[in-house]
Amino acid sequence: MGRSSHITLRREIDREALRERMAEDVREGLGSNPKTLKPKYFYDARGSRLFEEITRLPEYYQTRTERKLLRRVAEDLVRDVGPEALVEYGSGDAGKTVVLLDAMRDAGLLRGYAPIDVSPEPVRKVADEFADRYPEMRVEGVIADFETPVDLPFGELPRLVCFLGSTIGNMNVEQGREFLTGVAEQLTPADGFLVGFDLVKERTRLEAAYNDSQGVTAEFNRNVLRVLNRELDAEFDVDAFTHLAFWNQSEGRIEMHLVTSEPLCVSIDALDMTICMEEGESIRTELSYKYTRERVERLLEGTGLALERWATDADDLFALGLLRREG
Ligand code: SAH
Ligand code: AVI
Repeated sequence: MGRSSHITLRREIDREALRERMAEDVREGLGSNPKTLKPKYFYDARGSRLFEEITRLPEYYQTRTERKLLRRVAEDLVRDVGPEALVEYGSGDAGKTVVLLDAMRDAGLLRGYAPIDVSPEPVRKVADEFADRYPEMRVEGVIADFETPVDLPFGELPRLVCFLGSTIGNMNVEQGREFLTGVAEQLTPADGFLVGFDLVKERTRLEAAYNDSQGVTAEFNRNVLRVLNRELDAEFDVDAFTHLAFWNQSEGRIEMHLVTSEPLCVSIDALDMTICMEEGESIRTELSYKYTRERVERLLEGTGLALERWATDADDLFALGLLRREG
């Protein structure tokens, strides 16, 4: 049980609106060539749990490396930015967020936390748990799709906005710039914006992280078909699809696909649509761009944000960038 008087939950998008948006996205994505689905649809309650499992896999270096980096920089970061509220995009289980919240509490600054996620279950769970763990702060959970701008809570306080897990890697340059510009417009000069970036590295390491030996990533990937079956009355035979993940060197990204093992047609009743696929044809379900510092600086061009600090681990696996509003 949380301290309910300290918690508010804001639902910017309800289940029905999300379903309508999903219907439009799926119609467009599966109607195009190559077929695509947006990664945000992985994360129903089961998908969010599967992602949490991914973060604990030995091959998935990202989460533990980012946690280590956060531990290294948190104290200095909090001293320099002086945030009284933490606002987190794509918070998920907020497993690493406690590192920042602890540092804010230890500095005597902590007054608010706002997890923002499209998946309601983790937002509620985190709001409840953190209200208990940090009784001195208010929690404002926001269930929203950040593909369109979200009103950021705690505008009256100096904030640290964060976007961890390299979820920004799901956006191409154009989408990333649009998102970052929207964030920049809401930041005050007192705010900092901390973003986690997965770095370009050798193919074997990258591909192993998306092809784990326990098959959790494969199950996470296939979960999007279960979501479509439930939400859009689709009839995907989930087992007829094989997980494929590979490093696309020229584009600088990991691609995840679901590949058919036989020719098939699938009806999607809510869309009055039937899609047919040949054997070996794929649906591209996720792009995960990897970065260098130069690539991040290029991404920031024209967004109104500047890179103030850049911290990487000793093996150059992952980076944290502290961004500030320009001017
Ligand atoms: N920050 C956590 C979770 C990363 S997983 C970590 O670093 O481990 C990506 C998270 O972003 C998921 O919880 C997912 O539900 C959320 N997400 C993905 N696309 C989103 C969107 N368009 N709007 C809001 N949340 C989104
Ligand atoms: C959250 N996102 C950036 C993860 C990633 O690494 O691209 C999602 C993920 N997909 C497969 N494994 C993890």
